[in-house]
Amino acid sequence: MEVICSPVEMTAWSNKKIAQGKIVSLVPTMGYFHEGHLRLMRYAKTKSDFVVVSLFVNPIQFGPGEDLSRYPVDLDRDRMLADKEMVDALFIPDAKDMYPEGFNTQIQVSGVTETLCGRSRPGHFIGVTTVVAKLFNIVKPNMAVFGRKDFQQLAVIRKMVQDLDWDVSIIGHPIVREEDGLAMSSRNSYLTSSERKTAICLFSSIQYARNKFAQNKHVAPSSLLDEIKSFIQGFNGVNIEYIQLVNQETLENVNALDDNTLLVLAVKIGKTRLIDNGLLYDGV
Ligand code: PAJ
Repeated sequence: MEVICSPVEMTAWSNKKIAQGKIVSLVPTMGYFHEGHLRLMRYAKTKSDFVVVSLFVNPIQFGPGEDLSRYPVDLDRDRMLADKEMVDALFIPDAKDMYPEGFNTQIQVSGVTETLCGRSRPGHFIGVTTVVAKLFNIVKPNMAVFGRKDFQQLAVIRKMVQDLDWDVSIIGHPIVREEDGLAMSSRNSYLTSSERKTAICLFSSIQYARNKFAQNKHVAPSSLLDEIKSFIQGFNGVNIEYIQLVNQETLENVNALDDNTLLVLAVKIGKTRLIDNGLLYDGV
């Protein structure tokens, strides 16, 4: 596996592969790999000739008071894990090369960014789309793999690619979960052992909603939401940021439920913010 830090060298590496007619895939990450990240890499490997993984804790997608300064980092371990997954190039740019002095451009998708995490984390998606746009231009991938765990992020990137006529296939990978159902996340490492137990409330709420919906498919979204909220409030130390039942294409609240309605939730457990989502019927 090659480890590349310079954007110019990364582009030269990709250009060579593209000139040979090879398919290059990109898995953008902020590192501190867990099985969720590794599954994205494994999937990319089955679909392309060369896999590039980018590892960059993107400062501009963190708001003031968020966890940028304490975001977990373990570069040696990440290198070892990516190498084991047969990743071809690990791209670890420096913030000063991604955002040199005078950097003054932002990519902003409207609409789909204005709800859910976009509402509670102002500016977050501008940071995400700006860095992903740069990564696409540097790596020039044929395809890029993103996790459905960050469902809104995936929708925002799809919209950016569509609106800007980018010739990159965007693949959404199913959520990878711990044995008890907690969606894997680098941020799970912040949880104390008692918070870790409480964190099951996210997946339990999805299962609870699925059961309630299976019992009565005509239940009103507002009353199902009330039930889910009381269910989750039964766990100690959980602060709900949002819980919504949305259309999975538009991410707008639904007026009536169906199998494709998506339950999306963000909660704080202690200082740690966790998100999860799942379709009301079975699913991911
Ligand atoms: P990060 O949180 O490191 O996640 C990198 C990728 O892994 C994202 O596509 C995310 O959705 C996916 N992922 C994380 N946990 C997952 C899980 N349990 N199951 C499936 N996929 C999972 O998301 C980011 O970084 C950044 O915003 C980034 C896109 C790299 C831009 O900076």
